[in-house]
Formats: sequence, C-alpha cells, structure tokens
Amino acid sequence: MNFEGQTALVTGAASKRGIGREIARQISQGGGTVIIADINQEMLENAVKDIDQEKGSAYSAVLDVTSEEKVKQSLDELIGKFSKIDILVNNAGITRPTGVLDISEEEWDLIFDVNMKGTFFVTQHLLPHMKENNYGRIVNLSSVSGKRGGGIFGGSHYSAAKAAVTGFSKAVAREMASFGITSNTVAPGLIATDITGGMLTDEKKKQLENDIPAKRAGTVEDVANAVAFLATKESSYITGEEIDINGGSHID
Ligand SMILES: NC(=O)c1ccc[n+]([C@@H]2O[C@H](COP(=O)([O-])OP(=O)(O)OC[C@H]3O[C@@H](n4cnc5c(N)ncnc54)[C@H](O)[C@@H]3O)[C@@H](O)[C@H]2O)c1
Repeated sequence: MNFEGQTALVTGAASKRGIGREIARQISQGGGTVIIADINQEMLENAVKDIDQEKGSAYSAVLDVTSEEKVKQSLDELIGKFSKIDILVNNAGITRPTGVLDISEEEWDLIFDVNMKGTFFVTQHLLPHMKENNYGRIVNLSSVSGKRGGGIFGGSHYSAAKAAVTGFSKAVAREMASFGITSNTVAPGLIATDITGGMLTDEKKKQLENDIPAKRAGTVEDVANAVAFLATKESSYITGEEIDINGGSHID
C-alpha cells in the first residue's frame, strides 16, 4: 500500500510483538513517515531502530495518552516538526482479566482512561489540524470483547471501553465526513501479542484455537493489513465502519 508523502501517528506502537508496531512497519514500508508514540521509552527506541533498519522512516514520541496536557503539548510539537499528520491510529490499549464483582473503581478508571479517554484526547487534539488540511484517516482499535462481552483477557470494563471506542469512532465519522476525514475501527479477536501471550498456557491456547473456525489465533499482520487499508487514500468512501478480524469466532 502506498503512503508516499504521508505522515502517520500510531499510539502504543512500541511493544515488540504488538499490533501497533506492525501497523507502523507497514505504513513505513509503504513509503510513509511514522511517528511511534508510547509510554515505554526503552521499547520506543528499539521500535524506531527496527523500522529504520528496514529502510523505513520512523520517529519516536514519549507520550502517555491519558494525560490531556501531555497529548496537547506533544501534538503541538509534532505538528510543528512534521507540518502535517495525515493518519492517526489509536492503538494504545490495556486490559485486565478481572471479574465484574472484583473490579475496583481505580481499575475501572485505568482501563477507560487508556482505551477510551486516550483515544478521545489524541483524536480531539489532532482533528482541528486534519480539518485545516481537509484530509484525515483515523483508525481506532476496538475488540471483539466490545461486541460479544469479555472473556479470558478482558473484564467488563475492557468490553465497555472498547464498545465505547466503536461508538465514539462512528460519531466522529459523521461529524467529520464533510472535511475529508474518515474514522473507522477494527475489532480483533484473539491475536498473538504480549497483551495475550503472558496470560495463556499452551493447553489453553490450543483449546481456544480449536474453538476458532479458522483454527488459529490471528497475527499482528492480520490486523495491520486491515488497518493499513483503512489508512490509505483509496478508502475515502468508507467511514463509521468496523472491520472484524477474528477468523470467524464472532460473525454478526
Ligand atoms: N492482542 C489481542 O488479542 C487484541 C485483541 C483485540 C484488541 N486488541 C487491541 O489492540 C491494541 C494493541 O494491543 P496489543 O495486543 O498490540 O498490546 P501490547 O500490550 O503489545 O501493546 C500495547 C502498547 O500500548 C502501550 N501503552 C499502554 N498504555 C499506554 C498509554 N497510557 N499511553 C501510550 N501508550 C500506552 C504499551 O506500552 C504497549 O506498547 C490495544 O488497543 C488492544 O486493546 C488486542
């Protein structure tokens, strides 16, 4: 896919085996400039090095998406430096497998702050810039958990936050369609990354994969392929949409 002359901001893209890093890699391989924003400074440096080694063009931004002040400051600096940002991928996310009876207010807020409020802050502060350019592609990471209820990885707070991301994305799509800005979500099912890797025994993984019609967990490439398409110029008439990426485990 061609991203020549375009700049993308991908949040939560530092994690080595994560979805965001693969999205950043694909956009840079398509000729785009990628800004990788994450709270984890050490992994950020490694992510930029990896992409640069593949002859891509990547920059890092240490950013906690839950802080409105830091988001505003960081975006002002980035827009000043790169002069335009065409693509935003709201990928930063966390989960906790806590049952509804055991979720504390603190944990509820944490899950909502990273997954939903962070998506809101970054989107809200980038939209005036995209409106000015009369162009933008926003892709938000939701989850199958937001559609069919939680499961082993996410509690009810995670399901609720991801369902909220989808609703937010649709509302932004309606408000921004006349400014050349699209807003879409992807809803991955079980994807092999650090977020899931640490929580599964081999036996549990086999059992889960057996329940998926495609008989395997998804890969970061499976998700990044769909995100990259929604980030292209060619996807201009698709907005307010959600693409399921789950090997058939949830079909609606
Ligand atoms: N892996 C799956 O099975 C799966 C399924 C459905 C949806 N998702 C969603 O996809 C996205 C990526 O997940 P992943 O599996 O690659 O996770 P991951 O844990 O590998 O990566 C998440 C990244 O977000 C960063 N992050 C966390 N809090 C942050 C904050 N406050 N500000 C900025 N960055 C922050 C982390 O440092 C990390 O690099 C998440 O939104 C997740 O909810 C994942």
